[in-house]
Amino acid sequence: MITTNKAIELEDKYGAHNYHPLPVVLAKGDGVYVWDPEGNQYFDFLSAYSAVNQGHCHPKITQALVDQAQTLTLTSRAFYNNVLGEYEQYITEYFGFDKILPMNTGAEGVETAIKVCRKWAYEKKGIAENDAQIIVCENNFHGRTTTVISFSNDEEARKNFGPYTPGFIKIPYNDTEALKEALKQPNVAGFLVEPIQGEAGVVVPDENFLAESAQLCKEADVLFIADEIQTGIARTGGLLAVCGNCTCSGHCEKQSTYVKPDILILGKALSGGAYPVSAILADDEVMDVIKPGQHGSTYGGNPLGCKVAMAALEVVKEENLSQNARKLGDLFRAEMQKLVDSNELFTKVRGRGLLNAVIINDTPESDTAWRFCVALKNNGLLAKPTHGNIIRFAPPLVMTEEQLLECVSIITKTLSEFKQ
Ligand SMILES: Cc1ncc(COP(=O)(O)O)c(C=O)c1O
Repeated sequence: MITTNKAIELEDKYGAHNYHPLPVVLAKGDGVYVWDPEGNQYFDFLSAYSAVNQGHCHPKITQALVDQAQTLTLTSRAFYNNVLGEYEQYITEYFGFDKILPMNTGAEGVETAIKVCRKWAYEKKGIAENDAQIIVCENNFHGRTTTVISFSNDEEARKNFGPYTPGFIKIPYNDTEALKEALKQPNVAGFLVEPIQGEAGVVVPDENFLAESAQLCKEADVLFIADEIQTGIARTGGLLAVCGNCTCSGHCEKQSTYVKPDILILGKALSGGAYPVSAILADDEVMDVIKPGQHGSTYGGNPLGCKVAMAALEVVKEENLSQNARKLGDLFRAEMQKLVDSNELFTKVRGRGLLNAVIINDTPESDTAWRFCVALKNNGLLAKPTHGNIIRFAPPLVMTEEQLLECVSIITKTLSEFKQ
């Protein structure tokens, strides 16, 4: 088997340098664990940016993948396939929407939501063609396509990729007054928002922000679009972050805290990390604006992805991953708070469910968080800084309490050894 050094050397020489990975090579995964080529075991505390909520190589998802791979993988949408309809019924009932539009990656899901929103604005709301505006938030992360980076304010993601796509209004996150003002501008079609800003450093908005935003959008006849690519599928302790306080694993609208988006965007854990699967979900009056030939993807809705996604969603219910994320998330933050209280290096812990972050007591430009993550790696736990001095902690949701406490011990030990 290829060694760690050789694998890094090959990536460095032959791959574009569009990532800066932690110096660890992963060769195998199982549940909450991953191993490098030399056989060292690590806890995965990133879960492929929340794609592997169900744990690495979940046997049920792997089996679905293998079975379907031996049967039929891709037909394109030039023909019907015998899995897509079943998947469409399953996922729409699961999340409580009339229709799904299947895609592959998260950014494609966001692009799809933007296109559907604009089309709805012209054909249903009566905005003049090419005038539609979509409100977005500062410090958003919705992916890497040209249009999506056009409304990012991360200079690294944007610089020298222009000219940028127009039609977006930026407001501060978690600011309903700013949203109210923006909604007064002409030709507003949608409000695209992350229920918790993941890449920005796990920024959790005020409790009423989502509900108030959805209500303001409704009053202004503007689509409320929730990007749950990172927060959805049990990660934050409910089936979706818009579920609010509801802890049930399935979809229900019983809780007063539930906020139904007009368009819901899903990706990542929709396949449990086995295959790229994304989707938008909406009710008929929005989704029906899309007609044949107007949007699609060769792989979108392929039978392999559909089977994998159904298995991945079944696992979420069968293994009560929402409840586990909520319970272990509360425990994790309580344990991290003890470290914040007793140590200079950690200044704050925040998050919901098992999407959490610790703020490191140094500037975003410093390499302290990076060095701390390297030290964590050397002690058997993998996490990655986001925005310089913030470390995101997001393990697979199949983790047990015992494993979580072992991870807390690793973090505590690393902290006690660490020299800033
Ligand atoms: C909220 C959010 N939207 C969109 C994306 C983009 O997803 P993908 O990398 O699959 O294109 C991400 C990825 O991190 C995300 O966190």
